[in-house]
Amino acid sequence: MICKIASLPGDGIGAEIVPEAIKALQAVGRKYGHEFVFTEALIGGAALDAVGVPLPEETLRLCRESDAVLLGAIGGPKWDNLPVHLRPEAGSLLPLRKELGLYANLRPVVLYDALIDASTLKKEVIQGTDILVIRELTGGLYFGEKKREQTPTGQIAVDTLVYTTEEITRIARLAFETARKRKKKLCSVDKANVLESSRLWRETVTELAREYPDVELTHMYVDNCAMQLVRWPKQFDVIVTENTFGDILTDQASMISGSLGMLASASIGGKVALYEPSHGSAPDIAGQKKANPIATILSAALMLRYSFNLEKEAQDIEKAIVRVLDKGYRTADIMQEGGILVNTEEMGDRIAEEILEAK
Ligand code: NAD
Ligand code: IPM
Ligand code: MN
Repeated sequence: MICKIASLPGDGIGAEIVPEAIKALQAVGRKYGHEFVFTEALIGGAALDAVGVPLPEETLRLCRESDAVLLGAIGGPKWDNLPVHLRPEAGSLLPLRKELGLYANLRPVVLYDALIDASTLKKEVIQGTDILVIRELTGGLYFGEKKREQTPTGQIAVDTLVYTTEEITRIARLAFETARKRKKKLCSVDKANVLESSRLWRETVTELAREYPDVELTHMYVDNCAMQLVRWPKQFDVIVTENTFGDILTDQASMISGSLGMLASASIGGKVALYEPSHGSAPDIAGQKKANPIATILSAALMLRYSFNLEKEAQDIEKAIVRVLDKGYRTADIMQEGGILVNTEEMGDRIAEEILEAK
């Protein structure tokens, strides 16, 4: 099997973690005889610095012509004060998601037993957590009309939170279908006590539930959900929510898995899917080889599963990560007593070795 993968390292730790995910995919390729062909392209601040725009036409074309996209991270303080269309966030990542039609962002929150003590949360609370958060990715506040104007006394700034029935139905359908293949529990998270868009969200999800009588649907307000996630995360199976709520809840939920550096993601819905860690470019540790590459390597496993239908190979990566963690190897963010501290590259090497060694 030949798979064409666009590799977009981006900014900050992006350039350190993407090579480690490529290593894992190459190990899988060697083991099973698949050919993964990587073509690298510029995105974010790195693109802006090199060619003057954060999302070059050439990058977008490469992504469209590839079978899947592997992204590191974009953004950083260097580009924070530029006009919004040049900033890596609004100028590259958001348009890329929109252009590729990636309306669903899947973020698995899984705690590996080896990392129980790496989390700041209590062992009995988090042990056995396995949640899939499905975040709507191309609507809501991120893509609604924005405005900034002078007023006699200062300025006025507007962000618009828009959702249509169609947008809600397609993400909810994906969530019901996904829940059906798991523990058949779906929790839809909104703020229907205040927001009109959330009222439409709740009505639409409730209506669709009639087609899925085998899935247990519950609704939860987002503020309560933030609390419930740290109180008793095991109550959740699949969570579906709108763009902004999903962004915030998943960073929070990442601590159940020990670190934001463990949280993978798959953005799907279009012809070509995009795989990236849920975290950002981590400017505070960039260039120091401290970054945890596991979120990106797990995202590569999701690529094998969702884009290439290579389930066994995806599991090989996931099992290799478990074995490396069981052997005690730790990057700084998940370091604990008795752990063996390794840098980004060493962690990637250990995982690639395990992929090759395991039967
Ligand atoms: P961040 O996710 O980059 O970092 C938050 C904290 O988590 C930092 O202390 C960082 O060191 C730590 N961290 C993140 N990933 C880690 C890893 N793999 N290993 C170890 N520690 C890790 O969030 P931020 O600092 O708020 O944002 C920095 C920049 O990244 C901003 O420009 C932001 O817009 C951008 N960003 C990009 C993406 C993306 O590309 N998808 C996602 C989030 C933030
Ligand atoms: C993420 C990031 C992005 C988002 C930013 C960088 C635009 O935080 O992927 O979670 O908010 O979607
Ligand atoms: Mn985020």
